[in-house]
Amino acid sequence: MLREDFIYPEGIYLDGNSLGLASRSSIKTIENRLKEWQTLAVNGWTSWFGLSESLSADLAKLVGAMPEEVIATGGITANLHALLATFYKPTDTKKYIVATTLDFPSDLYALQSWTQHYGTELRLISSRDGYTLTDEDIEEAFQDDVALILLPTVLYGSGQLLDIKRYAKLAQEKSIILGVDAAHSVGALTHAFHDWNVDFAVWCSYKYLNAGPGACGGIFVHEKHFHRIPALKGWWGHQKHTVFKMRPYFTHEPGAAAFQISTPSILALAGLEGSLEEFKKVNIIDIRKRSLELTTYLMELIAQHLPELEIITPRNEERRGGHVSVRHVHARLLSLALRERNIVPDYRSPDILRMAPVALYNTILELDETVHVLRELLDTKAYMKFQYQVTHIV
Ligand SMILES: Cc1ncc(COP(=O)(O)O)c(C=O)c1O
Repeated sequence: MLREDFIYPEGIYLDGNSLGLASRSSIKTIENRLKEWQTLAVNGWTSWFGLSESLSADLAKLVGAMPEEVIATGGITANLHALLATFYKPTDTKKYIVATTLDFPSDLYALQSWTQHYGTELRLISSRDGYTLTDEDIEEAFQDDVALILLPTVLYGSGQLLDIKRYAKLAQEKSIILGVDAAHSVGALTHAFHDWNVDFAVWCSYKYLNAGPGACGGIFVHEKHFHRIPALKGWWGHQKHTVFKMRPYFTHEPGAAAFQISTPSILALAGLEGSLEEFKKVNIIDIRKRSLELTTYLMELIAQHLPELEIITPRNEERRGGHVSVRHVHARLLSLALRERNIVPDYRSPDILRMAPVALYNTILELDETVHVLRELLDTKAYMKFQYQVTHIV
């Protein structure tokens, strides 16, 4: 859709769900901020102060929120800690945290930190097939003694999209706080965090938002929680217009901005500044349509030509994020062999090959070519030459 706006590497890039490609606008905004540093030095803060807040209106559109409900800050895990510190208040009768066995491990580490801190427990919803979750199993976990549930929008392994609207409703009925990890959906599909009544959400911007490696992540805090004072306070979450009065007590900035802690990396924000320009050129509804077109096509091709690969991503469009995952006992070797042929997929232990045809820059022809190369690799078993490397070196 906007391929020309991106600096496309040689070959075929299908790893935008891990690290999105550099857009020309992000390069430009990063260069501009670098130039400001070189020429203005500390005076650069006159334009850098409030930079995160200036991105909120555009960011909010991507997650279905009001501008004050979002802020670009930190990274997923750090943001999750900050939000858990505030939102997780276990009592004798409502004390457990629930997550799933298929969550990204760093989220689970963060949750464990807090259950260990309070001497409570983390309950994990397990998967029947090892790759996806059922509505019944998730709903079953919404028990009265649960204080907080964290769910991903899209599972990083299989690409399954969860029905967050449904779970947010259930959470409200049960007085459970629902937090969401939207790492694999922001920039790829539509959200309505405000209307769904999600309590809080975290995401990164180095995947589908294409803001650059380690770019500033984002948080959503529903307006109904604006009265909450951040448990992890820092001067960047202080009311902006009085922060330089250097008062010894904390007065929080209204909205999600209160959850900022430290001075943000301006260069990490600059990448996001540019990438949000790209998202102003196309509607997120059209991005989702194109993404579904690409993933549907890829799954059809795989089913037709690569029967050795087991598709673990739901075929139902309403249950699918932006990537397609397949299972193969030699997934690791296949990923290395594809890379040798200048096709960049993604591998996740132990046997998942992930491919993300990104709406903004991938094409149908690239998917044809990828499947063609995979067929050849499976026929010739040429990928086996990486066996030694995988067993002895990595
Ligand atoms: C779903 C998910 N959650 C959390 C993380 C961790 O993100 P961060 O390194 O920004 O803390 C990642 C990283 O890729 C992820 O994919």
